[in-house]
Amino acid sequence: MDTSATEQSPKVTLLADYEQPAYLVDEALLQFDLDSAKTRVVSTLTMRKNPQGPEADCILDGEALTLVSLKLDGKKLEGNQFQRTTSQLLIPNLPDKFELEIITEIEPDQNTALEGLYYSGSILCTQCEAEGFRRITYYPDRPDVMSVFTVTIVADREKWPVMLSNGNMEDQGVFDDGRHWVRWHDPHPKPSYLFALVAGDLHVQQDSFTTQSGREVALRIYVDPENKHKCDHALTSLKQAMKWDEDTYGREYDLDVFMIVAVNDFNMGAMENKGLNIFNAACVLATPETATDDDFYTIQSIVAHEYFHNWSGNRVTCRDWFQLSLKEGFTVMRDQSFSADLNSAAVQRIDDVNGLRSMQFAEDAGPMAHPVRPDSYIEISNFYTVTIYEKGAEVVRMINTLVGDEEFRKGTDLYFDRHDGQAVTTDDFVKAIEDANAVDLSQFKRWYEQAGTPELTIDTNYDPIEHRFTLTVTQACPATPGQATKQPFHIPLAVGLLDKSGTSLDMQLEDEAEPHHGDTRILSVTEASQTFEFINVSSEPLASVLRGFSAPVKLKYDLSNHQLAFLMVNDKDSFNRWDAGQKLIINILLELVADIQQNNPLVLSSLLVNQFERILTDKKLDPALIAKMLTLPTENYLAAQMTTPDVDAIHQAREFLKRNIAVSLKGLFNQTYEKLSVKKAYDFNADDMAMRSLKNVCLSYLVASGDPLQLQRCLRQMKQADNMTELLAGLRLMVDQSGLERENALRSFYEQWKQDRQVVDKWLAVQAASTLPDTLIRVKGLMKHEAFSIKNPNNVRALIGMFCRNNPVHFHAKDGSGYRFLAEQILVLDKLNPQVAARMLGALNSWRRYDEQRQQLMKQALESIAEQQDLSADVYEIVTKYLA
Ligand code: PHE
Ligand code: ZN
Repeated sequence: MDTSATEQSPKVTLLADYEQPAYLVDEALLQFDLDSAKTRVVSTLTMRKNPQGPEADCILDGEALTLVSLKLDGKKLEGNQFQRTTSQLLIPNLPDKFELEIITEIEPDQNTALEGLYYSGSILCTQCEAEGFRRITYYPDRPDVMSVFTVTIVADREKWPVMLSNGNMEDQGVFDDGRHWVRWHDPHPKPSYLFALVAGDLHVQQDSFTTQSGREVALRIYVDPENKHKCDHALTSLKQAMKWDEDTYGREYDLDVFMIVAVNDFNMGAMENKGLNIFNAACVLATPETATDDDFYTIQSIVAHEYFHNWSGNRVTCRDWFQLSLKEGFTVMRDQSFSADLNSAAVQRIDDVNGLRSMQFAEDAGPMAHPVRPDSYIEISNFYTVTIYEKGAEVVRMINTLVGDEEFRKGTDLYFDRHDGQAVTTDDFVKAIEDANAVDLSQFKRWYEQAGTPELTIDTNYDPIEHRFTLTVTQACPATPGQATKQPFHIPLAVGLLDKSGTSLDMQLEDEAEPHHGDTRILSVTEASQTFEFINVSSEPLASVLRGFSAPVKLKYDLSNHQLAFLMVNDKDSFNRWDAGQKLIINILLELVADIQQNNPLVLSSLLVNQFERILTDKKLDPALIAKMLTLPTENYLAAQMTTPDVDAIHQAREFLKRNIAVSLKGLFNQTYEKLSVKKAYDFNADDMAMRSLKNVCLSYLVASGDPLQLQRCLRQMKQADNMTELLAGLRLMVDQSGLERENALRSFYEQWKQDRQVVDKWLAVQAASTLPDTLIRVKGLMKHEAFSIKNPNNVRALIGMFCRNNPVHFHAKDGSGYRFLAEQILVLDKLNPQVAARMLGALNSWRRYDEQRQQLMKQALESIAEQQDLSADVYEIVTKYLA
């Protein structure tokens, strides 16, 4: 019999199969005897039958555990009194109430998957979301089982002086034999995925925060002693987040202490464990010398994100993992508005939409497309996606837009109030908003159920005699795996009308008595095709639609390059100004691509040069926005705009455009660069950040102009920089220049920073993104460098991830070398860390969009993975869905 097929087909979990848990855990007492080689866990669970649950045996999850003993109400259970498989423990015939004592042993230093209890450098730490707790002890490891945890940790005092878990510290003591113990108690019932434990020789930086009701909270950041100078920014961000959540959502912190720990080995960005957030060191540590402005920005938002989870995720959690976006979409939406409030709202929106359109739209158009609330999965770790997070955030944002700010706040108040301490669904979230405001969001809920990016077509017509302006909106959504047809979405469409001089026109729909004043109004689109008639429109307007990107859709709105150029300088909405500029640039670049393909001579668009000049000299425009508007779309984004991407022509077209704009406007770039080069000490604030970003954009054009003197200027900037933003910007430009200066720049950068992991990762990433022809050979060489370990996810993402995702010219090399390289690495990684391996596969998401030859090569790479025996469920699921 052929068993490989069954071995290779891991179980599919369906939303439709959801059942309440048969047994509940009221209390969990955990005792850890810590040791990196063998840790002993004694778990005492106070359990009872769930009155609402099904009649079923008690099943506990458990993976890679050694079971030492099992006791029921104090009596040892013999082997014939329970059943054990590789993933479960089944105990039949249980009373309605009972106490289970389970003793297991685990091996943290063998754990390279970084799930459960593992060793990172010299720190022992846990990662339990989504299903890591079952690698610590047997437990009903599902989010709808919420329990009060008390955790005692015992360990060698010298080796593990700091021992942390969730909640408040209750007691501690010392034994005679050199060991010590500590007991933590978390009064808030929580699911097992929020459990955390950390032990190590850690430095702590302390601060405090007084909540709105006067509660004093101790704030502590724990780091390896070598990182003790890198905590300030995270602490500041944390206090900003705590204050903001009180002011904006009325949410207050609920324990005596809030702790953050930084670890070097982490699969994701950070984790919101109750009272004890664990962070990827790269997402929390920063000094101006070692972190760029973008890093500072990201750290501020991730610290806030994890903190916000204390309410949106922890106090109110998810019923099952299909509801993941309940906490993630909402929390991303919250961190995005936090960042918008603290920094530039326009820049924040541009960055968020840019990320969504380049990553999530590709996911929605590919083989892994899934709804914001999926209905099936093989491996839940594969569903921590841009759809769940970023599209999920857009969905919550649309609800806010449709109901209004005050109404939305009323809705979230009701949601937190009604469901505090519960594990709920996205339907419960929507219901709370509806109930608080008497609105009907039933059609809107399709955003949670239907995958794919809707396409919105806009047609307009002006009747100069009747003074009527007609706006027709047609929506359609392409088929996605498992969903052939779609129902119309409920779409908030933000529009404004501009006259020839760029002035906003009043908007009065034909059934309205009064015109709407103000620049923008929200139209509610619910039908497949819908017409809006504006009356009393005195002159022919130009409609600016989807302002602020009011819905995550693809817009088909045929504007001429001149109309785009007009909006680029005149639109009242900053986002749409930027977007009009991007569309204009894309039109021009795609024409250049066509010219390259047909061997036509390439010409520079004077229209674009004129607009760039106007933007660059606009004194009223925020320099951060100027920098964004002068930044050309990435090659990947351009590839997504073509039916069949032509990687080489795209690269060539983009280089041509950049170089020629640079040559045309060299004087202006030069002048702006010099003006922004005033020496002043580094500070992280919106104004200074804006200046640095514009300065670096100017430098990149100057270098692109091809003038060798500009390289000297680039080297000078690197030499003089007192911050990583300016240093790295210089290095990025240098790595695309072959020659001795490049090698020297890379060598001295490494010599200066080799002790600093965060900086070394930048050094790896910069080289992986180089356009020079020998990049893959160099990447392979760097894998043998002392700076690289395949077991460290940040190293892998910096080098292999960067090459495969952000170096399209070399990754898509015609000989297939990039694809083969990726396949080889995935197979190595799958044995060590399946989650990281599965993520790397994302680089092949769009493989079916490429030309015949490349498709064939990518398919071969995928098949070479699919052929392997014993693939992890993570890689198996993605590879089979890609090939399906
Ligand atoms: N829940 C984390 C967050 O988004 C992400 C995460 C998921 C971290 C799974 C680790 C494992 O805040
Ligand atoms: Zn999150």
